[in-house]
Amino acid sequence: MYSIETKSLSKSFGDVKAVDDISFYVESGEIFGFLGPNGAGKSTTMMILTTLLKPTSGHALVSGFDVRRNPKQVREKIGYVQQETTVDEYLTGRENLLLQARLNHIPKDQIDSRIDEVLELIELSDKQNEPVVTYSGGMRKRLDIAGGLLHRPKVLFLDEPTVGLDIQTRRKIWEYIKKIHEEFEMTIFLTTHYMEEADQLCDRIGIIDGGKIQIIDSPQNMKSAMGNEVISLSIENTESEKLFLSELEKIELINKINQDQNKIILFASKGTEVIPKIFQISSDLKIKIISISLTQPTLDDVFISYTGHEIREEEGGFNRRREHAKMKRLRA
Ligand SMILES: Nc1ncnc2c1ncn2[C@@H]1O[C@H](COP(=O)(O)OP(=O)(O)O)[C@@H](O)[C@H]1O
Ligand SMILES: [Mg+2]
Repeated sequence: MYSIETKSLSKSFGDVKAVDDISFYVESGEIFGFLGPNGAGKSTTMMILTTLLKPTSGHALVSGFDVRRNPKQVREKIGYVQQETTVDEYLTGRENLLLQARLNHIPKDQIDSRIDEVLELIELSDKQNEPVVTYSGGMRKRLDIAGGLLHRPKVLFLDEPTVGLDIQTRRKIWEYIKKIHEEFEMTIFLTTHYMEEADQLCDRIGIIDGGKIQIIDSPQNMKSAMGNEVISLSIENTESEKLFLSELEKIELINKINQDQNKIILFASKGTEVIPKIFQISSDLKIKIISISLTQPTLDDVFISYTGHEIREEEGGFNRRREHAKMKRLRA
């Protein structure tokens, strides 16, 4: 049984098709992410799966329960951390969690130990008795996530868990998400418009744009399907350079070779298999390699190839633009 499964799920707001006929599944125990720009339909999908919105058409099952027919059972199985923090600033961290525990009908005799457990997990035990107004953005987010864990959900929904946080804080939150995933053995469904976040956290990613899923795969597969790892190579000036190049051309995994003075740039489908072959050829020809490097295609490249556009800077803040422009130039 899948943790999440949708069939032809759609949601319209008037003329706007926010979610347009999407079908996907999330395996139990997976970290699955929707990657897409603002307005792609990520939050709408999540709100349907968490029973807060009714779909216009199609089906969705969460933990085996139909979100439309069995919303109560679905809610018992899930934790949902919204994009905006929902903690009360004037209460302490612990008081916020107490409130959350009561809302979730956690048995009275277990409340304290559950709160201790989640505070420990997200490392807020020290700050638990201080009002949230004194917390940083990252700490508030952690407290929010802790609140979503109190009833030990089978499936945790995180809507843009690190949006608006600085990069160090985001990295920290990623660590906590990984830790939670391991410790609770839960399924996590998250949305993000940060490429790096999807790349770092997700076992599989669905790229969503204009309410439609463009592709679902692991980040690694997506990147290698681009078939364009870049190997940069510089060699010592030598008479055998022409011969060297013609030998390189014979390597099947190499798609293209560019040369710029003593720098050679190779585009290859499987860089790690190509590199030993390069060393073999250079040693046969007694050519000295001064430097060699392998660059993976980025998820940026993948995103553009499926959607025809970048996630804009102001949305993504993912500063790979220059690198990407370079890749495009190299590929052209
Ligand atoms: N309550 C609503 N009423 C009208 N339009 C909405 C509503 N919620 C979302 N939308 C529209 O649906 C589309 C998808 O929005 P949303 O799911 O919030 O995207 P995302 O979370 O990927 O940024 C957008 O065009 C948005 O304007
Ligand atoms: Mg959203």
